Amino acid sequence: MTLFRRIDRYELEDSVRDLLAKEITERVSTSPLDSDADDTILAGIGAHALRRYLPGEVLHGLEVFSHSGNHALILANLPLQENLPDTPVSGFGDEPELAVVNALHLGLVRLMRATPFAVSFENDGRLIRNVVPNPAASGKTSSWGADSEFFWHSDNPHQPFGLPGSDPRPYMPQYLTFVALRNEERVPTEIAAIEDVVVRLDQQTLEQLLAPEFDVGAPDSNEGDKTQPLKGTPILSQDAEGRYRVRFDRGTTTGRTPAAAAALERWCEVLRTVPAEELVLEPGVFLVFDNYRVLHRRRRFEPKPAAQARWLRRCYAA
Ligand SMILES: [Fe+2]
Repeated sequence: MTLFRRIDRYELEDSVRDLLAKEITERVSTSPLDSDADDTILAGIGAHALRRYLPGEVLHGLEVFSHSGNHALILANLPLQENLPDTPVSGFGDEPELAVVNALHLGLVRLMRATPFAVSFENDGRLIRNVVPNPAASGKTSSWGADSEFFWHSDNPHQPFGLPGSDPRPYMPQYLTFVALRNEERVPTEIAAIEDVVVRLDQQTLEQLLAPEFDVGAPDSNEGDKTQPLKGTPILSQDAEGRYRVRFDRGTTTGRTPAAAAALERWCEVLRTVPAEELVLEPGVFLVFDNYRVLHRRRRFEPKPAAQARWLRRCYAA
């Protein structure tokens, strides 16, 4: 069967990595830079260095990614700062300590011509989420979990799809961007293209999933009761270009009719067999994927001792 998943992959030469490290380290050293208060300054520093040193092919790939129709982009061998702090397993650490990483992360988002954003109902309203095994999230299907398997899902699927040129915050985040700092456990981040799911559905199930007969609630990571479920929505729909897009989280999605509930069961069965890319994100890897056209998951894992535990940095962008 044809595979629809398309991933752009780039890897920097060590010489480029070292030039980036040198320039960004110098430029962030004049004053403490916080990822929330100083995000624009960090993005400017990162984007400037990246424009100067990245090969033209990589710059072009980042610039056109959002229009390319590709599902994900990976850029490996970014510099990591020396003396990386311990993994902040409680969820939050000292952001100015990570100024080099933040300048790279936010600079890459800027080169994609995307806007990084935070939402008030998640992650304490902070821009960067530390994806870490937080003992307080034990048993929850959250990005702070480790002991629960995360089935295929989209992030914040209970929000409407965004409209070009609008404030992204009330909408489902279109892009999830990550920078990996530690992954000694070698836990894969798995992604699957929606077209590879759709092609495996029977016609009746597909039609049912396109019908507005589902309720989709907020995931565990949402705080408080500020976010309402999306009621009477389809799981699958098509964008202006006729491409499929998806909203789904098994734990929070229900069918409003017996037919919708049956289609949901068949959907989950198909998801169990969908071809997936298992991305073991090494330290210094940047990953972006389209949260409207990709489902992702992470299986349960045994974290390393707290200070050295798996640590990804995630930022929404639109
Ligand atoms: Fe997720």
